[in-house]
Amino acid sequence: MDTKKFYITTPIYYPSGKFHIGTAYTTVLADTIKKYKMARGYEVRLLTGVDEHGQKIETIAKEKNLTPQEYVDFMAEEAKKLWKLMEIDYDDFFRTTNPNHEKVVAEIFDKLMEQGDIYKSEYEGWYCMPCETYFTETQLVDGKCPDCGREVSRMKEEAYFFNMKKYADRLIKYYEENPDFITPESRKNELMNNFLKPGLEDLCITRTSFDWGIKVKKDPKHVIYVWLDALTNYITSLGYMTDDDTLMKKFWPADLQIVGKDIIRFHGIYWPIFLMALNLPLPKQIYAHGFVMMKDGRMSKSKGNVIYPEVLVERYGLDATRYYLLRELPYGQDGTFSPESFVERFNYDLCNDLGNLLNRTIGMINKYCNGIIPKYNGIKNSVDKELEEYTLNQIKVIEEQIDTVHISNALAEIWNLISRANKYVDETSPWVLAKSDDNEDKEKLDSVMYHLAESLRKIAILLNPFITHTSNKMFKQLGILDENLKTWTSLEKYDLINENTKVVEKGEPLFMRLDQEQEIEFIKNQMK
Ligand code: ME8
Ligand code: MG
Repeated sequence: MDTKKFYITTPIYYPSGKFHIGTAYTTVLADTIKKYKMARGYEVRLLTGVDEHGQKIETIAKEKNLTPQEYVDFMAEEAKKLWKLMEIDYDDFFRTTNPNHEKVVAEIFDKLMEQGDIYKSEYEGWYCMPCETYFTETQLVDGKCPDCGREVSRMKEEAYFFNMKKYADRLIKYYEENPDFITPESRKNELMNNFLKPGLEDLCITRTSFDWGIKVKKDPKHVIYVWLDALTNYITSLGYMTDDDTLMKKFWPADLQIVGKDIIRFHGIYWPIFLMALNLPLPKQIYAHGFVMMKDGRMSKSKGNVIYPEVLVERYGLDATRYYLLRELPYGQDGTFSPESFVERFNYDLCNDLGNLLNRTIGMINKYCNGIIPKYNGIKNSVDKELEEYTLNQIKVIEEQIDTVHISNALAEIWNLISRANKYVDETSPWVLAKSDDNEDKEKLDSVMYHLAESLRKIAILLNPFITHTSNKMFKQLGILDENLKTWTSLEKYDLINENTKVVEKGEPLFMRLDQEQEIEFIKNQMK
């Protein structure tokens, strides 16, 4: 049987400074989906990397008395360190200063020029330097950049343009025929109503105001626009237009391209049009997530409200950090980071709901069953069947949520399963059954213990892509060592736990309860 492939990408990041938790979100999300798809039997390729050209990078390097290359070399290592800390399982960390990429981008430019999609003219407009984007008068908001709110300046230059107008109708038709191409739907509607329907402007795709970028071969005072350069990384990293395009053949089109809402315009409009011009298939889906916001709006150094992932990982662990980010951002919408909600999620969701379920189960199996998970003996309590049916149905619900990138919902549904198992303990009152001498009650008690261990086994499998360490600790405490009992396909079965499976004598708490006031204070002090 052929394994199905899944190609997933994150944007390549601007190495303009340290990555905060908002930027880390995109990559944690992509990594979680990768781990899930792998568990479902896919051969997955996850691409991430850095977007190293452009005026902004040139300026920052100069400020630091470094060449742009020295600066991006340093930053690429910093980014890799962070992804290592966050256990991002990428297959390729791509850098746009890769010579092969530079060569292919210049060739793509020539090809598009030859086929008449690119023409030379003159550009005048309002330019936002941090965003490296020109805006028309009407696009400005209060005379400032509509994307970042900063000052713009009037600029005029000889430039090359890409004929976007030529492809607009084709793209509109593509949107209509492929309703899941841009998700969530609200973002698609925005692109359609604000950009495509009113008529696309041709896009200025070269700059002469700086040097740090890929030059147009036949006219080298022109540097190729950073977005044309950056977007093509999704295919140059696969060897597009090189002697070896094995990866390209295998993985393109991408199955899922994840981006933040601020860059959906580039990915939802320009990128598909570039691909159409190159006569390549479009990605199957582009998903735009919302932003991690702070109580006082966007994260920014000037506000002193930036929180970095290293701080949270170091003090609370990787799993708590990943869980928080993935849980807190609703599908396609912004979420607000607050020290209060971080501590609450830690204490309630992780310590109480999940941690206690494992801890009391391990405790009871030790107390009532000499530490051995009893053999599956079918349905003994009136609620056993209900729990089994609920669980099996819930697994389908969770799969569907992840398959449609509703990651926060998927976690909420896993927590519903955890709550259901906690409720099952109360419904069956094992401590009462344990006092009885009746043989039937003994069987009922065994069934409760089995069902709890089995629920936890399933929960550990479901949690694995999100919070791998916690999941592994759960298996260990339950004494589940057989890899066959950790697979996604084993979720269907109810009677897999072997006889003589011994749980640990004393389960260490998965998460240690936090002192609320103290930790809120701690996190507040870490905001920079
Ligand atoms: O945009 N919350 O790179 P980048 C959530 N180089 N996500 C956020 C965020 C926040 N507060 N702030 C940023 C670029 N992001 C380009 C991409 S791709 C061909 C080129 C997200 O470093 C942002 O939406 O500015 C993007 O997905 C990622 O962080 C990197 O942003
Ligand atoms: Mg950005």
